[in-house]
Amino acid sequence: MLTKPVSPLRLPISNGGFANNEVVLDTPVVLAPMAGITNSAFRTLCREQGAGLFVSEMVTARALIERHPETMRLITPGEGETPRSVQLYAVDPKVVGLAIKMLMEENLADHIDLNFGCPVPKVTRRGGGSALPYKRKLFSEIVHASVKAAAPFGVPVTVKMRVGIDPEHPTYLEAASAAADAGVAWVALHARYASQMYEGKADWSVIAKLVEHLAPTGVPVLGNGDIWSGADGVRMVEETGCAGVVVGRGCLGRPWLFADLVSAFNGESNRAQPTLFEVREIMFRHAELLVTFFESEDRALRDLRKHMAWYLKGFSVVRELRAQFGMVSTLAELRGLLDQLEDQPYPTAVAESPRGRNSHGKPVSLPANWLDDPDEIPAITIDDSVSGG
Ligand SMILES: Cc1cc2nc3c(=O)[nH]c(=O)nc-3n(C[C@H](O)[C@H](O)[C@H](O)COP(=O)(O)O)c2cc1C
Repeated sequence: MLTKPVSPLRLPISNGGFANNEVVLDTPVVLAPMAGITNSAFRTLCREQGAGLFVSEMVTARALIERHPETMRLITPGEGETPRSVQLYAVDPKVVGLAIKMLMEENLADHIDLNFGCPVPKVTRRGGGSALPYKRKLFSEIVHASVKAAAPFGVPVTVKMRVGIDPEHPTYLEAASAAADAGVAWVALHARYASQMYEGKADWSVIAKLVEHLAPTGVPVLGNGDIWSGADGVRMVEETGCAGVVVGRGCLGRPWLFADLVSAFNGESNRAQPTLFEVREIMFRHAELLVTFFESEDRALRDLRKHMAWYLKGFSVVRELRAQFGMVSTLAELRGLLDQLEDQPYPTAVAESPRGRNSHGKPVSLPANWLDDPDEIPAITIDDSVSGG
């Protein structure tokens, strides 16, 4: 339960149309960027549930400046979506500067988030994602170049990072200071090391440490990791003093988590706990939004399949029907399957348990000698032209 009111989260944006040149999030909640998930369809679905800021899927800076059609589609906002928040993956200060300049000059984004948290071996092996903050000069150059490109347009830049490579190589305090120095609007921390992938529980105590560390700079910290209910969001703010929360896997198949967060942050006791009939209408709406996003019923329904088990988690649905949801290929077929469901109450305990990625920890794949000299500026040759991942 909320013991004192939470301050709204303010994001200064002066590139047009925002009251007092800022976006005020009364409920300080941000949808985490999730590749393959947080496209404009999913963001719209979450937006319809409540307040917040909804970040795009990650796109790479290089793919943007090369104008890959798929990347251009990924940054197209949903209908009426504002502010338009784009997450960039970058390993080269020049490329990220150009990408942001392009986004700014063509008025394609109101907020830029930089991804320094990706733990995937194919990325860290080449020095990208969560491996990058260890090379502190390069990290600082990338963030400075980003802020420099966005600032003339009044567009805020934020960073999202992990605690470090592994417990022997934490990077978050130093990287957060460098980001604050460069002028970011906030620092979001996923409270795990890259070596943990998604294993175990996020250690929220590091969020509290970062809050304390950045306090003299005035740069807010957003906490991230293992928020499965509105109450978890409130608890993270209360336990760590963070200015807001970033929510990822908790809303997979549960976009109403945003409604739950709004009521929890307002100190209300009502919970968002839809019945299966209510869930089924959200599933259908998700499908329709995906058809608009992909401009293809076939692609949309294929994409929706991965969400089905998440939507149905904890509900009692016969195995054959469950399997058919995983193979659905048209809207009409989906409607037919949804009509076979029987209404039932929300299975709170199971539905609010962890879902989505839970990969075990493992040593982080790094380029040879990566840990020898944090001051070295490496020439990263990662193929960063492919979005998502
Ligand atoms: C399917 C999936 C895709 C993700 N893609 C991205 C991404 O593109 N950029 C990023 O910064 N984090 C990405 N993440 C990490 C999340 O943004 C978030 O930091 C992480 O899931 C921990 O938060 P949670 O416990 O609320 O899920 C991804 C996570 C998942 C599960």
